[in-house]
Amino acid sequence: MGARIPRAVRAMIRLDGVTVTYSAATTIGPCTLALRRGDLTVLVGSSGAGKSTLLRCMNGLILPTSGRVEVDGLGSLADPRVRRAHQRRTGMIFQSHQLIGRHTALENVLIGRLGYHSFLRSLFPPSRFETRKALQCLERVDLLGKAHARADQLSGGERQRVGIARALVQEPTLILADEPVASLDPVHGERVLTLLHRICREDGLTAAMSLHQLDFVRRFSDRVLGLSGGRIVFDGAAGALTPESLGGIYRSPGPRDDRELSPQESLKEAI
Ligand SMILES: Nc1ncnc2c1ncn2[C@@H]1O[C@H](COP(=O)(O)OP(=O)(O)OP(=O)(O)O)[C@@H](O)[C@H]1O
Ligand SMILES: [Mg+2]
Repeated sequence: MGARIPRAVRAMIRLDGVTVTYSAATTIGPCTLALRRGDLTVLVGSSGAGKSTLLRCMNGLILPTSGRVEVDGLGSLADPRVRRAHQRRTGMIFQSHQLIGRHTALENVLIGRLGYHSFLRSLFPPSRFETRKALQCLERVDLLGKAHARADQLSGGERQRVGIARALVQEPTLILADEPVASLDPVHGERVLTLLHRICREDGLTAAMSLHQLDFVRRFSDRVLGLSGGRIVFDGAAGALTPESLGGIYRSPGPRDDRELSPQESLKEAI
């Protein structure tokens, strides 16, 4: 599915025939897709389907075994200079926040600026310009009042909002979020996604995120990519998801189905 991408589509990033081979038994792809500018694309699929692998390919953390990842205006991520430039403008948001607990919220946000500095410059305190920028990002996620609180004294939802602020301070063009609300209860998960969705809209950001909760997928996606066994088996609007297409996405991927079932597999039962 999605094997032909018309060049006329204004894509922020394109994957052409991307495969990732971890071992003879585990190959993701081949995947061919283009993320349209300004779209929020949600990746869904069972545990092991390849969602995290694809997201990592999109920011160059994993280089494809074959195929090509190309960023509009920059070029192929196989080139280390392109990769560095792309990673500087790509905000990553993780399930586990990846904040430094003993640092304040503000200090954690400022880490998002490191890609803009040489190693030597990063040894010096941040400029007033950067501190102001980081505070503005904390304000956008409604956490200005917690700027000087230690990250390990924040709630899970607050930490995730610090993670969003850290991504925003990078002045990203692309946001990649791997299960950004998996560790939050539904109320805080909804709050974080509403915020992220609003910011992507306001700033015209392109975003790709993996999600497990079908109601969130329906509410927050412009486009859904369904993965099964490392391949894209659904590509369309959330409204086009039918019990049959969900069955295809969440059906057993065969040899890789020896894994422990994860919570998202209960999605299939929810329909
Ligand atoms: N570093 C690695 N070394 C070897 N195999 C890996 C590695 N990372 C992922 N895999 C394998 O690649 C496949 C896809 O993994 P991936 O983490 O992309 O899936 P996922 O869809 O994100 O799953 P989950 O929903 O559990 O996070 C799995 O079979 C996994 O075991
Ligand atoms: Mg994953």
